[in-house]
Amino acid sequence: MKHLIDIKDLSKEEIEEIISVANHIIDNEKLYSKKCDGKILATLFFEPSTRTRLSFEAAMLKLGGNVLGFASESSSSTTKGESIADTIQTVGCYADIIVMRHPKEGAHLEGLRKSRVPIINAGDGGRSHPSQTLTDLLTITREKGKIDNLTIGLCGDLKFGRTVHSLISALTRYDNIKLILSSPKELQIPEYVREELIENKIEYIETEDICKYMSDLDVLYMTRIQKERFESEDEYNRLKDSFVLDVKKIENAKKDLCIMHPLPRVNEISVELDDDDRACYFKQVECGKFVRMALILKLLNIC
Ligand code: CP
Repeated sequence: MKHLIDIKDLSKEEIEEIISVANHIIDNEKLYSKKCDGKILATLFFEPSTRTRLSFEAAMLKLGGNVLGFASESSSSTTKGESIADTIQTVGCYADIIVMRHPKEGAHLEGLRKSRVPIINAGDGGRSHPSQTLTDLLTITREKGKIDNLTIGLCGDLKFGRTVHSLISALTRYDNIKLILSSPKELQIPEYVREELIENKIEYIETEDICKYMSDLDVLYMTRIQKERFESEDEYNRLKDSFVLDVKKIENAKKDLCIMHPLPRVNEISVELDDDDRACYFKQVECGKFVRMALILKLLNIC
């Protein structure tokens, strides 16, 4: 039984296999339209989502399977006091694979122990979001033709941004990666992420000003300041617009810079950039559906 709780649950070879299958699906979608005939995917979302939940549902429907689930905690029996572990055990009687998002970090691990079907972590608090990382790696591969030998800027809320933590963890397995980590001091990467970079001898710079490095970047991964993780609204308001990417700020950037964002966007990328060829964040959304089709097939041992 294979689960995807953390991106480290997949070897580099397995990640590359999923990316390769996703690329094959993009070119041969019809071949996959019945692969999950009779299978059911459950989406249990205790936190809001647009992309992750709907892309998993779209992925399963495109594979010929069915979906069930809930989009908010208020419609689940956890509001009556049921544990996550019991919820998982119950839903495992109805579905072949479970996708769960929960605000509590590590909540999935508790449920995992009793699960009879594969579980995919669709985001646990501010910690990790591994299926977003697969989306990001597929996007980078399609835009840059490789992942090795890239200089990648990660900008915004690096403390609470779970997509950043999982992406950095995955990138430590690639060769000659250089990371420029740009955030206000208060929102720098957590210590355990820094330790992972050091352990893996990844070259990285922490800065408050990504613009100083803009001309070096192959990829710029923007993130939203995660309002919902702040204890103080005043602190959020002080930091929320600390960096806004606009046309002027990428004047010196490479012509083939790949600008990414896991979305949702609030104010950190000016909408005027959406028409720039370097804006890849909506292509990234599309990659999310295809990579999740490949991930479902992998975890259900179908292919
Ligand atoms: N990227 C992402 O996780 O988006 P949602 O919160 O809309 O699922």
